[in-house]
Amino acid sequence: MTEYIVAIDQGTTSTRAIVFDHSGSIVSVGQKEHEQIFPKAGWVEHDPAEIWANTREVIGQALSKADITRHDVKGVGITNQRETTVVWDKNTGEPVYNAIVWQDTRTQSIVDRFATDGGVERFKDTVGLPLSTYFAGTKIVWILENVDGAREKAEAGDLLFGTTDTWVLWNLTGGTDGGVHVTDVTNASRTLFMDLKTLQWDDSILEVFGVPKSMLPEIKSSSEVYGTVESSNLLREVPIAGILGDQQAATFGQAAFDPGEAKNTYGTGNFLIFNTGTEIVKSDNGLLTTLGYKLGDEEPHYALEGSIAVTGSLIQWLRDNLGIIKSAPEIEELAKTVENNGGAYFVPAFSGLFAPYWRSDARGALVGLTRYVNKGHIARAALEATAFQTKEVLDAVNADSGVPLEELKVDGGMIANDLLMQFQADILGVPVVRPEVAETTALGAAYAAGLAVGFWENLDDLRANWQENKRWTPSMDEAERERTYRLWKKAVTKTFDWVD
Ligand code: G3P
Repeated sequence: MTEYIVAIDQGTTSTRAIVFDHSGSIVSVGQKEHEQIFPKAGWVEHDPAEIWANTREVIGQALSKADITRHDVKGVGITNQRETTVVWDKNTGEPVYNAIVWQDTRTQSIVDRFATDGGVERFKDTVGLPLSTYFAGTKIVWILENVDGAREKAEAGDLLFGTTDTWVLWNLTGGTDGGVHVTDVTNASRTLFMDLKTLQWDDSILEVFGVPKSMLPEIKSSSEVYGTVESSNLLREVPIAGILGDQQAATFGQAAFDPGEAKNTYGTGNFLIFNTGTEIVKSDNGLLTTLGYKLGDEEPHYALEGSIAVTGSLIQWLRDNLGIIKSAPEIEELAKTVENNGGAYFVPAFSGLFAPYWRSDARGALVGLTRYVNKGHIARAALEATAFQTKEVLDAVNADSGVPLEELKVDGGMIANDLLMQFQADILGVPVVRPEVAETTALGAAYAAGLAVGFWENLDDLRANWQENKRWTPSMDEAERERTYRLWKKAVTKTFDWVD
């Protein structure tokens, strides 16, 4: 009998269930978008109940498209948008507030308050992260301080916190009827609360933040059986055996298992992850130190990460807020109507700037405008912004590691855009390489689950699945690369200090 693994990818804009076979090929996909809620400038929320309902629905879609049942599924893996924070009542299963999304900047005053004593790098040695609105910890504090009755309930042990992996897992395993409250090391490493060495919650940091430990999930490896699916679900009794935050999952799906290997994912934001093996490497160049993966009882693998808040979501913004394109793929056609950016540079600092700047006081800027600039130039500037931001984080990775990357493995939605990928190779000066299975995020979660249930034997099995699909080689001359990158850097400085 042919067997399969189902990966659930709970992303920023949609939730998907993907059925994979033993060769790592996609058999079927179920997908549903959820609402992006913007209550105020800088605030971004999701409805956790909608996300859970969509999860159930897409599992049904994927199984029926593949024409299989739970009996054909050997295991389930979960991957997720990281940092997005859900707090719910464990007795009712009801969230006490909407999910606060990773892009949300409302916690700036909480960041400032904690940073007065020791600066934003106060906890960096322990947790690998600067204090920033990006991470889950400050979002939990906001809920405890701003939702009526939340602190009392949390102190009484009635509230649970989870990133969306944990929210989906708790519901999949029974919710109020015995749901498992667990996360994996990669997601835990995005809270500001996990000690990178012990892989446990740090009591002294929790005390500073005033977060009761009883809210927090148990931290497990990325590949082990956490529980089985509850009986009302189409996947009932199937083991859930893998969890990886989506960027770490994409790294795993790209088979970047060894130190020195890296990938860059082009999603709503971009995330470059560089595997540093079992060594915890501190960045001197604005990168995060984070967990890469941990397989069962084996030693953890760590990584350096360059997180960029806005790349693909800039294209959505041009579609939804300005209406200069009707669908995201149209951006390429529009950009191709012109030869170059016409002097325009677009720095999309909508959530401040993440790596390598970590400037939450930054806001977006479109500079270099003249009467000559038209919407084609703006489309091109928007695409180029993704490539320039990627160069900034790749330069930081090269500086931290001391060994320049010789090529960049890429994945995510925007890699279908040839113009962008060619410009990316041109700006980096190294080849950009796309794998055959572009859905590396879901594939990574499937791999983690499949390893735990013996569907795949070992990492060599997985390496054998990686095939090159396309390669873009640099063709821009050095002087032009330097000129345009210098102008980009100048444009970035125009975004600083925009918060009153
Ligand atoms: O850290 C945020 C990241 O995990 C979100 O990824 O692909 O859902 O935009 P994505």
